[in-house]
Amino acid sequence: MKNAVSFLALALAFTALTAFTLSSKNNEYVGSKTCKACHSNPKTGGTAYKVWEKSVHANAYKTLKTAEADKIAKEQGHSTKAADTKECLSCHVTGHMEAGATFAKKFDKSEGVGCESCHGAASAYRIKHAKDVEGARALGLITKKVSSGAAEKQCVSCHNKKSPTYKPFKFKEAWKSVAHPNS
Ligand code: HEC
Ligand code: HEC
Ligand code: HEC
Ligand code: HEC
Repeated sequence: MKNAVSFLALALAFTALTAFTLSSKNNEYVGSKTCKACHSNPKTGGTAYKVWEKSVHANAYKTLKTAEADKIAKEQGHSTKAADTKECLSCHVTGHMEAGATFAKKFDKSEGVGCESCHGAASAYRIKHAKDVEGARALGLITKKVSSGAAEKQCVSCHNKKSPTYKPFKFKEAWKSVAHPNS
């Protein structure tokens, strides 16, 4: 009897562990290049990629590679270069603020603040959302609305006083320079 109980406990623990592994695998960050093919053409999903590619966000990691960034890192008390400093990466690279985030092999941190910084880790919704946006939300697709104020809150998760170079964040102006509507 005792053996049966411990076997059951072990089986349950194993099931839970498998489910956990699968669910975290399902939400890997795959990188913005994955979005490029469909989101560069008005006929297949709009031109968000083209807007993003030219935006400051696409440069956010490269900024950490500069001498100015290393100087800031040093002033903040870090002994590592800015591009190797966890705290700097947290706002300058997709997914790096999230505890336990996982990244696909093809994910390239040099993309800086990519699509998934605002739309969620995409491995699970990447295919599904093109035909079923509402269904894809359950798989992690996020679209915060500008009109409801939710998008501004999302920006402020990085645009805040924890940024060593913080400039007061004016959402309306800021959104204009990164907006990527389909029409
Ligand atoms: C196979 C083509 C394809 C790929 C790859 C693709 N998308 Fe899309 N995406 C679409 C299409 C088509 C729509 C419009 C769906 C609709 O409105 O029914 C869409 C819509 C969206 C939307 C709008 C959702 C909403 O709330 O209306 C977001 C955000 C989005 N995609 C993000 C991404 C991101 C991020 C990636 C890369 C990780 C990506 N997409 C990759 C085809 C694609
Ligand atoms: C994951 C963190 C993150 C999020 C979320 C984020 N940003 Fe940024 N943003 C940055 C970083 C880092 C830079 C600096 C990039 C550089 O200079 O290389 C930046 C720079 C900018 C700039 C240019 C500098 C400035 O402050 O004027 C604008 C405009 C901007 N972001 C708008 C937005 C808007 C609008 C949102 C929300 C819809 C947003 N950002 C969300 C990290 C983020
Ligand atoms: C800084 C945050 C941020 C980044 C980075 C970002 N988006 Fe968005 N995106 C938004 C917000 C916020 C909205 C909703 C805007 C609104 O309320 O109309 C949106 C809307 C969209 C839409 C729907 C547009 C429409 O008119 O219906 C698509 C498609 C989309 N994003 C795709 C992408 C793709 C692909 C990338 C990367 C190439 C990307 N986004 C990068 C914040 C972001
Ligand atoms: C809380 C999020 C956050 C953290 C942490 C962060 N940054 Fe940034 N960084 C930003 C944002 C947002 C911007 C855009 C300008 C602004 O408002 O600071 C930015 C801009 C910059 C710039 C461009 C200079 C400018 O005036 O636009 C440099 C360089 C920089 N960051 C270096 C660093 C370094 C080095 C670290 C680590 C010590 C770091 N950042 C940590 C969010 C952050």
